[in-house]
Amino acid sequence: MNLDIVILAAGKGTRMRSTKPKVMHHFLGKPFLEKVIETARTLHPKKIIPIIGYQAEEIQNYFKSQDLHFVIQEQQLGTGHAVIQAIPKLDSEYTMILYGDVPLVSSNILQELFTATSKTGIGLITFFKKNSHGFGRIVRNQQTKKIIKIVEEKDCDQSQLLINEINTGIMCVKTDFLNQWLLKLNNNNAQKEYYLTDIIELAVNDQVDIADVISSNENTIQGVNSMRELIDLERSYMKEKAQLLIDQGIKIIDPERIDIRGSLMCEEGVVIDIGCIFEGDVILKKGTYIGPYNIIKDTTIGESNQLLAFNHIDQAIIGHGCNIGPYARIRPATSLSNNINIGNFVELKKSTVGNHTKINHLSYVGDSIIGESVNLGAGTITCNYDGANKHQTIIEDDVFIGSDTQLIAPVIIKKGATIGAGSTIVEDAPENQLTLSRVSQKSISNWQRPKKK
Ligand code: UD1
Ligand code: CA
Repeated sequence: MNLDIVILAAGKGTRMRSTKPKVMHHFLGKPFLEKVIETARTLHPKKIIPIIGYQAEEIQNYFKSQDLHFVIQEQQLGTGHAVIQAIPKLDSEYTMILYGDVPLVSSNILQELFTATSKTGIGLITFFKKNSHGFGRIVRNQQTKKIIKIVEEKDCDQSQLLINEINTGIMCVKTDFLNQWLLKLNNNNAQKEYYLTDIIELAVNDQVDIADVISSNENTIQGVNSMRELIDLERSYMKEKAQLLIDQGIKIIDPERIDIRGSLMCEEGVVIDIGCIFEGDVILKKGTYIGPYNIIKDTTIGESNQLLAFNHIDQAIIGHGCNIGPYARIRPATSLSNNINIGNFVELKKSTVGNHTKINHLSYVGDSIIGESVNLGAGTITCNYDGANKHQTIIEDDVFIGSDTQLIAPVIIKKGATIGAGSTIVEDAPENQLTLSRVSQKSISNWQRPKKK
């Protein structure tokens, strides 16, 4: 699009009561500013221009791998002053202005704003709010209903304070107009600041109509000033997501006790018990049950799985019909096929597991390829790390491994092999044989336990 996007993010955010810049506080797992930049990118602007000031270096450092055109505003003399700093970088036909502290602004409404703006030359997003305290008020002409100005709360008279239509702060302007109007701003107001909002009246004076997009979703225009507002907005957003899933027929036992921090897609018949956290992109297929207190990140879980309580699953792929947990930890690059049992206190990392295999208790499986219908006894450990390098363990189909066995990688346990309990396996085990390494048992007669003196 023939568009530059300016993101205002120079303020310290005093009300956050933190030394960290407000826009670097995390919202649903990412800094505010990162979320706004992600949304800005969906419009395919020519440039994204974040205006920063407080702890600028820290912010620039965090985003150093991204294509951004930072501008430093040394002193925060107001939102208009902030945009003036960006003028030398603006070279598209339109400029959109976003706030770094409005994390849920949506791509759809910004598209709508852009379309509306292209008809007149300036547009803004407003919202009707029951309690408009703290916001700039939208003043309209009584007859024509056209917007005539924005008045900041501190500059409002009694009747203006009663107005419920508020300025979200998000606007889009033809860049030529913006440059002219910005140069006419002054700071003759209650806060002695250069208000961006004053360009509305300047536009009206120049006979330019103000296009408006009225938002119907408060979360998407909600700014965050304090930790309380941050938490409230996160909760409200997650609850909204949970409600949407419930409306699709998904049984979320308590929409107040679920954290959906990224995207969660569920198919028919999914049930999610309380206290679960979903991060990144998670997909739950038909009929899968997620017990209480599961933490699941960037993972696809197939059909008809039963996850008992307290599992931790990260970047894994899980097939159909598995029973998992309680207390399983499934780490990145793990892939489970179908009808597998992963029991309590089992950790899997960078491993594949074949159909019908059971790893029921207290095991560590890392850098391994495990075949079908294998049984790993309690306390089986793949010793994959020699202190410097990681090595692979291969366990072929139909292997039975007795309890408390260490497999010193690299090692292959061939098809149908049985490993006796308590073994330390350092060499490949042949097919269909019993392999064990165990000191033979002895008993000492006439032995006396030491007695306390
Ligand atoms: C602003 C709007 C108000 C609107 C409200 C919506 C103005 C004058 N007022 O008020 O109409 O209802 O947002 O939330 O625009 N910033 C800078 N440099 C500055 C000043 C601010 O980068 O010199 C940044 C802040 O970091 C913040 C954003 O601009 O991200 C908004 O600033 P803030 O001071 O919070 O404006 P409000 O008083 O809330
Ligand atoms: Ca604000």
